[in-house]
Amino acid sequence: MATTPTFENGKRKSADTIPLPQPKAAKFGLPSSRRREIWEQRRSLPIASAEKKLVQEVENNDTLIVIGETGSGKTTQLPQFLHAAGYCKGGSMVGITQPRRVAAITVATRVAEEMGAQLSREVGYSIRFEDATSPQTRLKFMTDGMLLREALLDPLLRKYSIIILDEAHERTIHTDVLFGLLKGVQKRRREVRADVETDGRHEQVQMNGKPVENHKQLQFNLEVQGSNGSFKGKPLKPLKLVVMSATLDAQGFSEYFNGAKAVYIQGRQHPVQIMNTYTPEADYMDAALITTLQVHLEEAPGDILVFLTGQEEIENMERLLTERAGFLPEGTPKILIAPIYAALPSEQQMRVFEPAPTGVRKVILATNIAETSLTIPGIRYVIDPGLVKAKVYDPRIGVESLAVVPISKAQAAQRSGRAGREGPGKCFRLYTVETFNKLEESMVPEIKRCNLANVVLQLKALGIDDVLGFDFMDKPSRAAIVKSLEHLYILGALTDEGKLSDPLGVQMARFPLEPVYAKAMLVSSSFRCSEEMLTTVAMLSAESIFFSPREKLKEANAARQRFTSPEGDHLTLINVLRAYTQEVEGSQGIEGEGNQKKLEKKLRSWCSSNFINGRSLRRALDIRRQVRGYVEGMGLELISCGDDLTQFRRCLTASFFLNAAHKQPDGKYRALSSGQTVGIHPSSVLFGKKPDCVVFNELVRTNQQYIRSLTRIDSLWLPELAPQYYSTRDLMYAARPLPQEGILKPQ
Ligand code: CDP
Ligand code: MG
Repeated sequence: MATTPTFENGKRKSADTIPLPQPKAAKFGLPSSRRREIWEQRRSLPIASAEKKLVQEVENNDTLIVIGETGSGKTTQLPQFLHAAGYCKGGSMVGITQPRRVAAITVATRVAEEMGAQLSREVGYSIRFEDATSPQTRLKFMTDGMLLREALLDPLLRKYSIIILDEAHERTIHTDVLFGLLKGVQKRRREVRADVETDGRHEQVQMNGKPVENHKQLQFNLEVQGSNGSFKGKPLKPLKLVVMSATLDAQGFSEYFNGAKAVYIQGRQHPVQIMNTYTPEADYMDAALITTLQVHLEEAPGDILVFLTGQEEIENMERLLTERAGFLPEGTPKILIAPIYAALPSEQQMRVFEPAPTGVRKVILATNIAETSLTIPGIRYVIDPGLVKAKVYDPRIGVESLAVVPISKAQAAQRSGRAGREGPGKCFRLYTVETFNKLEESMVPEIKRCNLANVVLQLKALGIDDVLGFDFMDKPSRAAIVKSLEHLYILGALTDEGKLSDPLGVQMARFPLEPVYAKAMLVSSSFRCSEEMLTTVAMLSAESIFFSPREKLKEANAARQRFTSPEGDHLTLINVLRAYTQEVEGSQGIEGEGNQKKLEKKLRSWCSSNFINGRSLRRALDIRRQVRGYVEGMGLELISCGDDLTQFRRCLTASFFLNAAHKQPDGKYRALSSGQTVGIHPSSVLFGKKPDCVVFNELVRTNQQYIRSLTRIDSLWLPELAPQYYSTRDLMYAARPLPQEGILKPQ
């Protein structure tokens, strides 16, 4: 056990003096007068008194910047104000973007509840692979990536009267692209409207500057040749934009949006006492565990929010806390652990908002999602290890990976702020003041630290060919853009002139998938293994299919052995899905309608006896259905390769050739396109097996670079199936082991 963290204005405690409780699975109870409670809550929010003024400002400005502290009510209230002010009349919608899936779901659920509406009717949400909207939907919460996709189908976003770009300070890559795109949409919608003029008595309808005779008909069915092709519809209203941010720095946004006006919502922040450790903590998980218990034993009532970097850490912490809580001294109040992260099913995500029963302290274990996207009531203590999982990209070698990196000063301030929303609070930073002083002021926008291939493909599909000249708020480096163009060119999505290739590039852009997965789907039909590729794409998108509880590790490993393929992880995942289909769905006919409940029950029991994560499998099946829809919609044939899995591995090679790695004489691997030295991730079924050559899907950086999700291939397939990228000579350079002696021997 590491030493107890000592805080500068706290006292040292030995880990062993902190004993701990088995909190019984406490039931959340819903207060009886829920409606009244919600009404009171809404009324007490800082934004409530500003309703009239805000609506007025939106009315007066085409683009408005709204700044307000986290929890002031921006996300849940402003859309309702605009709804009440008539912005959804005539079938128009208010669209609200969120950088995170969890936020889109939980906020839509909350707003539906506040409005007394059924979710997915008036209030809905749309995230990748899940659409909870209907023709009645007027307030639509969606991930920023989804709005970008909608723009592909309707470049003028005519359904929307207002678009709110929420959490703009997060500067995700999609929000940044939307900035430029929506500025363009605003301009074009103004141009189209300018074509419809009135002289007071008669409407003088014009198209492209010329009067139109039959204007009555046109007024309702106006057809305009825009720069982006033709469209039909009513004359367009201007598009209003609201950019919402939780950080005070409005100037950058205002400058970018041609001097747009910024309004501030007065927050009510209480003082937060900040404590740093004296010395750096070697193990932040351990430090976080001990600090949580210490706060629970010593501090006044109030919930604790612990920031961790991902699902795995959260699950570990949940287990450790539960264990240690069993040893708390008699009479210590109970704790209730509430995890929240992206992959958690939505019903469970909503549980973090429910108050703990009286006398019980809630401990929320959250990813960065709780920094500004979600406001969870009741928090008085924040424990901040100062880390976040983020994308990092090296444009020189074109490699993107996920890494745990230090947060910025702005993020540290946001995190500590979570403790002071309802009263004075405390924030325990598990790092020293010196470390804090060395942090960056704010996080570099994602667009400057990730692979741009996906957005470049989407911009091209939107007809924006000059990506280098696109109106970015922060321009990515030229090297990064050029690398992504190169990447798309190698995948065949772009022509020699840098235009979207037809049909390959056009079809790739249609899939809601990373370009390389879209390409894999498209080539798989020529390799006659599209069913298997569909499974692969779905299973990889769903994440953590296998479930290995620590106390049953042996059984879990034995169960996994049943599915394990010596060829690697992709085939292992295919085995899982095949077994599921055969043993569960096959036994009662796939998608039998009245059978839903029975099927669900069977799925659950099959998953638990095979140590498969039920919700991940369900999500994979769902994604599979949806991607299948896209494949069928394009008129592509769906074929299974059956037992000829070599064919499938060849298809993986033809698709993921950019991610090939070769074993070196020292047993490590060299990623062929980047030249990086990598190791096989311990979670891979090929870990310890040392195949000569593999293709992989993911690069993970912890203390070293790991490749994850891999399959063994024959290195000679690379020049054969990706001749545009590999020549046989390259591969010899990549230290291909010499052929076996027996092969060289004359017969
Ligand atoms: O967007 P902003 O950070 O300004 O605040 P918000 O997300 O609109 O949250 C306003 C209030 O709604 C906070 O007091 C939240 O605690 C509450 N809320 C909630 O109780 N349950 C949710 N699912 C979402 C918000
Ligand atoms: Mg918000």
